[in-house]
Amino acid sequence: MALLTDDQQDLQKMVQEFVKKEIAPKAAHYDHTEEFPWDSIQKMAALGLLGIPIPEAYEGTELDTVSYMLTIEEISKACAATGAILAVHTSAGTMPILLFGTEAQKKKYIPPLATGEKVGAFALTEPGAGSDASRVTTTAVLDGDDYVLNGTKCFITNGGAAETYVVFASTDRTKGVKGITGFIVEKGTPGFVIGKKEEKMGIRASSTTELIFENCRIPKENLLGKIGEGFKIAMVVLDGARIGIGAQAVGIAQGAYEEALQYAKVREQFGKPIAAQQAVSFMLADMSIEIEAARQLVYHAAALKDAGRPYGKEAAMAKTFASDVAVKVALDAVQIMGGYGYSREYPVERMLRDAKITQIYEGTNQIQRVVIAGHILR
Ligand code: CAA
Repeated sequence: MALLTDDQQDLQKMVQEFVKKEIAPKAAHYDHTEEFPWDSIQKMAALGLLGIPIPEAYEGTELDTVSYMLTIEEISKACAATGAILAVHTSAGTMPILLFGTEAQKKKYIPPLATGEKVGAFALTEPGAGSDASRVTTTAVLDGDDYVLNGTKCFITNGGAAETYVVFASTDRTKGVKGITGFIVEKGTPGFVIGKKEEKMGIRASSTTELIFENCRIPKENLLGKIGEGFKIAMVVLDGARIGIGAQAVGIAQGAYEEALQYAKVREQFGKPIAAQQAVSFMLADMSIEIEAARQLVYHAAALKDAGRPYGKEAAMAKTFASDVAVKVALDAVQIMGGYGYSREYPVERMLRDAKITQIYEGTNQIQRVVIAGHILR
């Protein structure tokens, strides 16, 4: 366990109790039904958990990044889908407005997001622009006092559930990456349609949808940052958001490990608990080492961010390592629990399915290596 301040430990205890009572008992249900866990989100909102790193001036809780990460971790330990909703809402949905919005945009859009009255989302990915995010083909053309958006986004976390979307579109296709611009788009704007909802392998309670823009008119005051600055905004936001995915991955791994540990202590074979057999005890030892190493990378990246120091490389390292650990540990937890681990009666099969996305979204682990190598070789 990392060295946490008294305040961070108090928050951790509070979130652990909340998760035990409100999140854990419903995780299997929401995985099964694929319903958005509105009741959990509302309860998290009441505790101020939807605006943890947001200043009080915008009705946030104004805590540090480490506190925010340990909250994502604790929630993801029981329900990674709820962890994903929280992480994307905060880091990718709200942060871009806080970091790059005008004062008027911040006053209008951040308080309802920070209090959880509204959910936020981040729309960069398109069918032809995944890892190569610069290939955005959604266009935004100025017409009078409005920008007119046309195009399709895909795999948008919180799609449909969110009311506030940060959307990236090209305002000048001839300029490539320097022609991408950010916009704030409200759900319900004419011409903005929520498209197909993905049926996913894991984090099934989180909603992942297409967004379709057909001559969608956005008032020009909803332009986020400067024209042509959109790609940079997206990259800066993703640098921060990737720490959150690392925290989600640590949570999943810790959850799977605890299930396997508990099982191994009581499951007897060959006349003693399987935890007393070296084959299993060494697996548990390795799992605990890997989780702790991943946690330290996540908290380190968060602490650098809190200290106002560069953290992009460390965020990518934390996300890559922690997500690989989540998949491996969840897989080992299934192995330790054998047939029971493979059964839906126990949560580790869900945790394994949930773990996989952490290697993919907010930049695949292959892209994280591009980012890390870029920092090393700069
Ligand atoms: N911070 C600030 N600026 C940055 C930056 C960063 N981290 N990374 C790049 N830039 C700037 C560069 O400096 C450059 O600007 P200048 O020319 O002025 O210097 C410009 O952006 C272009 O940079 P690159 O040439 O490095 O860009 P690239 O096209 O080679 O792409 C990449 C780099 C790292 C591969 C990037 O495309 C990338 O991160 N891809 C992955 C995308 C991703 O993570 N998508 C996830 C979407 S969200 C999601 O998954 C889930 C959800 O719902 C939220």
